[in-house]
Amino acid sequence: MLDQSVVYLNGRYVPRSQATLDVEDRGALFGDGVYEVLRYYHGRPLALTEHLDRLSRSLKEISLDAGDEIEALPRVSEQLLQRNGLSDAKLYWQVTRGAARREHAFPKDVPPTVLAIASPEKPIDPSAPARGVSAILHEDERWHRCNIKSLMLLPNVLARNKALDVGAYEAILHRGDTVTEATCTSLFMVRKGSLVTHPANQWILPGITRLLVLRLARQAGILVRERSFTVGELLNADEVFLCGTTTHIAGVTHIDNQPIASGGVGALTQRLHEMFMERIAKECLGLVGSGC
Ligand SMILES: Cc1ncc(COP(=O)(O)O)c(C=O)c1O
Repeated sequence: MLDQSVVYLNGRYVPRSQATLDVEDRGALFGDGVYEVLRYYHGRPLALTEHLDRLSRSLKEISLDAGDEIEALPRVSEQLLQRNGLSDAKLYWQVTRGAARREHAFPKDVPPTVLAIASPEKPIDPSAPARGVSAILHEDERWHRCNIKSLMLLPNVLARNKALDVGAYEAILHRGDTVTEATCTSLFMVRKGSLVTHPANQWILPGITRLLVLRLARQAGILVRERSFTVGELLNADEVFLCGTTTHIAGVTHIDNQPIASGGVGALTQRLHEMFMERIAKECLGLVGSGC
């Protein structure tokens, strides 16, 4: 049964049960659209500018002009929080190339479909330690433009489901021998005290949490290398962690049932987790300063 929360669809706030998408919306038929997910803590967004920038970049990459719709999304999101009585929430924004008779070519003069959904999240406990999770390895079967936050998530969905089927949290993706990222999180490893992550190019999504972690690490003087690395290096890393908007930072203790180092959450992972929690507290919980 659907809940009665209020969602935003094409300029209107409507009860979820009355929000209807055209059966020929290009998002549903072709995956012809892009999306964003961001977290609000205590009613305030984390890294709002960065999420808006990435959405604009994704739209540009697929030649979709959404006009003024994007600028309206922060106001729309605040409205959704208010109308649904939420302060800790996950916001989902989706923009598609609109509804038109099914033809591959872009339709002419069709307005985009803009959808925003707020769903409740548990308030965080900034003093809780970083979680430890397990992962599996999985071939990266996605396309060649993973930098676009596109609606076409089937390879991610299939791989994540395989991980969940065997009781793991995530599937770490690799193209041949090169590790890229995970299905819905970015990936880091620690080797000899430095942080290593795949460069932000066409093979990974430029995660916003990844960006914040990189900024925090550089500010703290931690050595950072954005370079590609092999499955062998990953399995022999001193630490491995995942990060993302809803995952935050989670240490990877086991991959394919094999322990990473001693099989616990690493010290640098825990330190970065603490720095990240502090960042959220400052920017969103009003505990000194602002801005990410
Ligand atoms: C493939 C992929 N990588 C990384 C991430 C993490 O990105 P962010 O930190 O912006 O949530 C996501 C988030 O959905 C993702 O889908």
